Amino acid sequence: MKVDDINKICVIGAGNMGHQIALCAALAGYQVVCTDISQEMLNKAEDFARNYLPERVAKGKLTQEQADRAILKLRFTQNLEDAAGDADFVIEAAIEKIEIKRKLFADLDRITPPHAILATNSSFIVSSKVASATQRPAKVCNMHFFNPALVMKLVEVVQGPHTSLETAQITMDLCTKLDKNGVWLKKEIYGFLVNRILAAISYEALFLADVGIASPEEIDFAVTNALGHPMGPFRLLDFTGIDLTYHISLEHYQETCDPKDKPSPLIVEKFAKGEWGRKTKQGFYTYE
Ligand code: 3HC
Repeated sequence: MKVDDINKICVIGAGNMGHQIALCAALAGYQVVCTDISQEMLNKAEDFARNYLPERVAKGKLTQEQADRAILKLRFTQNLEDAAGDADFVIEAAIEKIEIKRKLFADLDRITPPHAILATNSSFIVSSKVASATQRPAKVCNMHFFNPALVMKLVEVVQGPHTSLETAQITMDLCTKLDKNGVWLKKEIYGFLVNRILAAISYEALFLADVGIASPEEIDFAVTNALGHPMGPFRLLDFTGIDLTYHISLEHYQETCDPKDKPSPLIVEKFAKGEWGRKTKQGFYTYE
């Protein structure tokens, strides 16, 4: 199989990442079906696409023809069989819970044609954890986008010990087709490159706030002004979703049982209050 044999892409999950990955692929000319267990999420994703495309046209970033073509290429359905049945490439962007992902990969293995590549957009989980739920581990890898996926250029492609060279190469080539810059990691590691670095920054920022050295606002102010990051660590936590950070930290802590991996008290508190960041209009900051 070659990248040019990919016609249809299935995106699993219409959340923070999935809805934009699906639109990216439709804009690149692929037939895309985005699926989610929640009809509400699918409706939101479709509304986003229907608002975003005319905005891009109005801004002069897309032609009307490109926008019309993209919307025709994009379909949303709750039915996994319908979404993945004839997919050549699947990008799973479901919740960061390993058991849910393993079940999905087992289902995808049953549903998709044998040639299909199954990639996970997991933020931290290495693909060997899901490849073992399939009969086609050589066709499983990580393909990790960054939020907002329509804007951020980097995609990490992680080749696990089970991933064939062909699968990793096709996934890298697909990044190029999607107008992304792929970086190829030839070994698996929890969190890959960028999220390991980001986690180190968030860990320290949360520690400093937890022990009262400075407030989230002050820490963000310091980081943006001193390091030139577009967002400080707390604004970024709000942006990517405090629920995501909570689930990732908890999964990791349950695996390592290392006290240093225990979710930060601030994250636990925000999660319990339902203050998950931008998506709930309240996190470390309040959003209109
Ligand atoms: N969705 C789609 N496009 C968006 C967007 C969104 N949520 N927010 C902004 N944009 C687009 C705008 O349309 C604009 O596009 P244009 O220049 O082509 O017209 C461009 O981004 C710049 O937008 P703005 O001028 O409104 O705002 P900013 O200049 O402040 O940029 C930002 C917004 C791009 C989000 C910028 O603040 C940024 O880069 N922040 C850091 C993002 C980051 O670090 N991402 C990685 C997170 S970690 C991660 O994703 C890992 C994962 O595993 C969770």
